[in-house]
Amino acid sequence: MKVPNIVVIGSLNMDIVIEADRQPKLGETILGSKAQFIPGGKGANQAVAAARLGAKTTMIGAVGGDSFGQELLKALDDNGIDRHAVKIVDSSSTGIASIFLASGDNSIVVVQGANQDLLPKDIDLYDDVIQAADIILIQLEISLETVCYAVNKAKSYGKTVVLNPAPAQVLPDELLRQVDYMTPNRSELGLLTGRDAEGDELEIAIQDLMDRGVANIITTLGADGSAFMDHHKLHMIPGYKVPVMDTTGAGDSFNAALAYSLALDLDLEKAVSFAAKVSALAVTKFGAQAGMPTMEAVHQFAASVKGDI
Ligand code: RIB
Repeated sequence: MKVPNIVVIGSLNMDIVIEADRQPKLGETILGSKAQFIPGGKGANQAVAAARLGAKTTMIGAVGGDSFGQELLKALDDNGIDRHAVKIVDSSSTGIASIFLASGDNSIVVVQGANQDLLPKDIDLYDDVIQAADIILIQLEISLETVCYAVNKAKSYGKTVVLNPAPAQVLPDELLRQVDYMTPNRSELGLLTGRDAEGDELEIAIQDLMDRGVANIITTLGADGSAFMDHHKLHMIPGYKVPVMDTTGAGDSFNAALAYSLALDLDLEKAVSFAAKVSALAVTKFGAQAGMPTMEAVHQFAASVKGDI
């Protein structure tokens, strides 16, 4: 079977995960039960997820010249990810995500640090990497200028681009027109379109973005699964009922699995359905990267829910 070649252009963060019984209210101090430092960052999480599924995975990104940076590079090495295109910026601090975890759900604040130092000229150093890719997978935790430049370059080589618009920000139409697959969750879709995508404007919000030029939109709906539009018809792919331990990285696992299946030329419904299984498994374990399943685990899960893979 073909081995997908996935190039992830994006962030690497040290996740500082604080666990407590509930989220604090604004202005309140509460006692937590645990604090852990673990590798994360949407880009690195997606790279780890793709590699665990069996893809040849290359990461383009930046870390600071500190011990966190070294730990994040080691996490890539441990997962067999080619990280020769991750630069070390001695004058910067590695990106940090402060993650507050309560009852399996989270809220996150990211300080980008060295992720902001990944510049268009760095992308130019890796033309060969981009040309060899089946899919370019990119998010928004690096500078928007670099995202636009990288997507433009990938399209100039005729590559398929998957953009995970997280964290969400308003995006130029010029970028949207070049994106083959975009994967906003409901709140990101709302921010991108100004529609009430978390309420009853989901379908019209998806249509709005497609009208602005995105070829395909797949919206993740948390426990409710995901939705995508095909021939002006909204298709819903249900989620799976699983014991949720930590939703951090669920979207990342979904994106990586989607990219993996698209690289194998699966049709969109099959690709989304595969991604739904991968993300269902990812939330059953603690930690963004630790929860990314192997292909073997996905096969076992598919057999247990009597689904296709
Ligand atoms: O998507 C989850 C990730 O978001 C975390 O690992 C954190 O680093 C933030 O980037």
